[in-house]
Amino acid sequence: MKILDQEVAAGSTLSYGGLIEKIEILRSALRWASRLERPDIERLLRQAGALRDDVMHLSHQERFVHAAASEPTALNRSTRQRREALIARSFVFEGAFGDNPKLLEALEVAEKAAPTGLPVLIDGESGTGKELMAKVIHANGNRADRPFVSVNCGAIPDNLLESELFGHNKGAFTGATADRKGKFESAHGGTIFLDEIGELPLAGQVKLLRVLEAHEIQRVGADRTIAVDTRVVAATNRDLRKLCEEGRFREDLLYRLNVIHITLPPLRERRDEIALLFDYFGDEAAESLKRRPIEMTPRLRAFLLDYAYPGNIRELRNVVYRLSCLAGQTADFEHLPADIRPVVPAKPTPAPAGHGHAPAAADLSEAKRLASDQAERAFLERALLETGGLVTELARRCDMNRSHVQTLLKKHGIRSKDFRASARDQQ
Ligand SMILES: Nc1ncnc2c1ncn2[C@@H]1O[C@H](COP(=O)(O)OP(=O)(O)OP(=O)(O)O)[C@@H](O)[C@H]1O
Ligand SMILES: [Mg+2]
Repeated sequence: MKILDQEVAAGSTLSYGGLIEKIEILRSALRWASRLERPDIERLLRQAGALRDDVMHLSHQERFVHAAASEPTALNRSTRQRREALIARSFVFEGAFGDNPKLLEALEVAEKAAPTGLPVLIDGESGTGKELMAKVIHANGNRADRPFVSVNCGAIPDNLLESELFGHNKGAFTGATADRKGKFESAHGGTIFLDEIGELPLAGQVKLLRVLEAHEIQRVGADRTIAVDTRVVAATNRDLRKLCEEGRFREDLLYRLNVIHITLPPLRERRDEIALLFDYFGDEAAESLKRRPIEMTPRLRAFLLDYAYPGNIRELRNVVYRLSCLAGQTADFEHLPADIRPVVPAKPTPAPAGHGHAPAAADLSEAKRLASDQAERAFLERALLETGGLVTELARRCDMNRSHVQTLLKKHGIRSKDFRASARDQQ
């Protein structure tokens, strides 16, 4: 028993291999013990307790993510190879697109989670694809041909919540004119997607917890319970742990829902894929709108590649659909939604006729040089007009050396005889 103590205590890093080893040591201690004294029983109980704590610890959110990421094969392969491997395993993407490592990790976790029937909690910012991921999990499991029922927990009024989720019997409350199935019953055999789970009021949380524990529901106004076999996938863009600390979300429900945890990356962590997503949604929009894929002006493309996308993939997709709908062959700033359209500086007022436009300057000293040249040219042209193209007269009036005037005229490509001709025309 002494040896057992040391062996079980050894190996402080927590891993499944380490856990199984500890369990095996415990098992063989029991197998070979011919008689156990009370102190031995106490020791074994302590060890079993420690093991239970370790299992609890490992079963927290990192568990599946860790398992997926720590596979040596996954670590060593490029994202493209990982995607190809998913395809080779007949993974159903449901239109989920991207090679970003965090997205692939989420897809690999979804692949592992899909056939288990375990509850999954998906979190991520708005528009990162939480509902899409829930559909991916459903489509890759053995419930794929059964219903996928989506419930937005934030959109149901508190007084209707119970009836919406669990159904009601005729006469259960005013307005209950007939028996009605709830979402859980409708999703029997399939998956129920509880969107915005952080918005579920505390009373609803208690009822949901009961269903998750007992796998049965009770319609409002009914005496009997109905067994339901519904896989639960929940999603949130809130920090549920923080809500628990604030007393607004039940911790026991969080642990029930969070058996497998998937976090979806925001688009700003997948910026390298924005250009690919333009093409992907551009083709998709072209097909659905029955048109040629949209092209973008270079300035629009540069703007959209640089844009922050607070609404993540949904926003990018919506922008591409909007451009595809509003623009002809090529989209530009004017086709963007007004609230994100960049302010284009007004065109500079054109220079007076005959003086040409000031070319764009790269910096201030360049701008000064250009302005000075333009003023010089304007002065010479006006003076030549006044002197009827006579360079000698111009030099005299301006008190300049004649050859210097000639040099300046040459610099600006001004021909004095053009002004003589124009003076003749005016006569
Ligand atoms: N990886 C992806 N590949 C292709 N399309 C995606 C991807 N992720 C999201 N989308 C698309 O973006 C849109 C928004 O996705 P979804 O509704 O799943 O986001 P969400 O996280 O549930 O958003 P919200 O929090 O606002 O409810 C959908 O049209 C979805 O098909
Ligand atoms: Mg959603």
